Amino acid sequence: MITNEQFQKTYEESIKDPEKFWEQVAREEISWFKKWDKVFNWDFPNYQWFLGGKLNITFNCLDRHITAGKGDKAALTYLNEKYERITITYKELLLQVNKFANGLKSLGVKKGDKVVLYMPLVIEQAVAMLACARIGAVHSVVFAGFSANALRERIEDCQAKIVVTANWTLRRGTKKELKSTVDEAVKGLEFVENVIVLSRGSSSRSERMTLSGDKETDYHQLIQNQSDICEPEPMESEDALFVLYTSGSTGKPKGIVHTVGGYSVYTHYTTKKVFDIQDGDVYWCTADFGWITGHSYVLYGPLSNGLTSLMVEGTPDYPTPDHWYKIIEQEKVNIFYTSPTALRMLRKYGEEYPKKHNFESLRILGTVGEPINPEVWLWYKKNIGGDKLPIEDTWWQTETAGHMIVALPGLTQKPGKAGKPFYGIEADVVDEKGQSIPANEKGFLIIKKPWPSALRDCLNNHERFEKYWTEIKGVYFTGDFAIKDEDGDIQVLGRSDDVMNISGHRIGSAEVENALVSHPAVSESAVIGKPDEIKGERIKAFVVLKPEYSPSDDLIKDIKSHIKREIASMAVPDEIEFVASLPKTRSGKIMRRVLKARELGQSEGDLSVLDQ
Ligand code: PRX
Repeated sequence: MITNEQFQKTYEESIKDPEKFWEQVAREEISWFKKWDKVFNWDFPNYQWFLGGKLNITFNCLDRHITAGKGDKAALTYLNEKYERITITYKELLLQVNKFANGLKSLGVKKGDKVVLYMPLVIEQAVAMLACARIGAVHSVVFAGFSANALRERIEDCQAKIVVTANWTLRRGTKKELKSTVDEAVKGLEFVENVIVLSRGSSSRSERMTLSGDKETDYHQLIQNQSDICEPEPMESEDALFVLYTSGSTGKPKGIVHTVGGYSVYTHYTTKKVFDIQDGDVYWCTADFGWITGHSYVLYGPLSNGLTSLMVEGTPDYPTPDHWYKIIEQEKVNIFYTSPTALRMLRKYGEEYPKKHNFESLRILGTVGEPINPEVWLWYKKNIGGDKLPIEDTWWQTETAGHMIVALPGLTQKPGKAGKPFYGIEADVVDEKGQSIPANEKGFLIIKKPWPSALRDCLNNHERFEKYWTEIKGVYFTGDFAIKDEDGDIQVLGRSDDVMNISGHRIGSAEVENALVSHPAVSESAVIGKPDEIKGERIKAFVVLKPEYSPSDDLIKDIKSHIKREIASMAVPDEIEFVASLPKTRSGKIMRRVLKARELGQSEGDLSVLDQ
């Protein structure tokens, strides 16, 4: 815990000389095989951190803890809706990682090769991510809720050499097939050399899934005879660690590239400070590896700090509405980090459920992914935080890789406001020309300079990367609206671009529209996000049908399953309205803004460009 004064002092120092600040963090917190020659280089809009430095993130996440005598400490604890529990120590995890890393090498995987993971939230996925990082292969995790088409698009974009999957994932008591989705996704993709399949629930060989074709390898068989020694590849600080796809305002997802050095430093340090960690902490971040939160704050950040990180496969309220409360109590969780959507869901079931449980172990709470409504913040504070625990409302993005705006434990925290920029980060709320705007007025949230874990590229689309720094020339454009109050505390309001936030997941309006118009009955479409009590936002689609089709409930059903097939169930519109035409500019651009204003009963604003 720190005081406002202590924070202010360190913050000012960090801003006065960010290079000095981050150099000290890098030196004190991270083990390097070779020290950097230069801390920071900014050749606008490109930048690098810790140039010439060599390291491996898995050495920081595993080896160094074992050397320090913490090998027998639990690194990861897996739990599911049946309360099955698997714990793996740091020592055991390193052995598994090394075996899988050697397995990948035996399949010809080399530094720089791309490996796509399409897996459930199981320990083997953590092993696969770390094994890639161990040998310098670049992982690209695709959330296992995405459809075969969405998966294929990502596999093709990054030209993955290997895909790792499992037979099924578990959700609300049912097993969802994964392997058949991968089969469909990789069909005809010659560059995919191998699909590694984890057969869950089968330890003996005879029980395992029968694999077909010479391009498939059984996970257990692959590691069976591998050595458990694999020296970590000395990575250049600026070598790629992973690619993670996220939605933007165009129809195509962007492959956000993060590099080893800056990412290691920033995720380690934010985990340490934001959660005020103590030795022996049991830490639970409820995210899936398919999202950036799973990368930075389930896996790399916590392991780099030597914590015990919990991973729970399933949903908050299955099999019972207090499933998660039971886990907090049983596992004696000290730090609990979740999303506003999950909290809204838990709140809906009422106060009697949290009351039945003992949350004495908890010390720090957190939220991420979407704006948190003040009333939900207060509910969280009272019912889970016993009216005393700090709530870390962390604002950040796939592109930032780590926390950017947050009121650290001990600082004044205000419901619904993320708070202050983190050490070394200068943020502001500006108009479209980049001018600071007065306190309490809505504007664009920007970051003034590159920080260590800032995205380095958009895979195969450097122009898109440059746009982040040129939309408002010279600063990083977050794509969010925000308000800064008179104390400098920032409230993030939501996206300023055509990106929706459904249950904390980013979905581009254009992505859903593209999928809609690929349905045979759809001529044109426009998609907007509407406020939703639980999910934050929900999708409404306006659809113009081709003349030979007429509206019907069956057609709505068919269009919905089409979207599920094209993208994922989370992208399926809750509402579909058939309309005769869509509001457009004279140049033919669909004005989603007008549709949204009409839908929400708000002012339609300037309509001079509307083609009426
Ligand atoms: O709109 C902001 C919202 O989520 C977006 C980033 O989404 P993604 O890249 O998927 O990463 C989510 C996990 C970091 C942001 O542009 N967002 C994220 N955290 C918050 C938030 N909005 C308000 N408050 C937050 N704490």
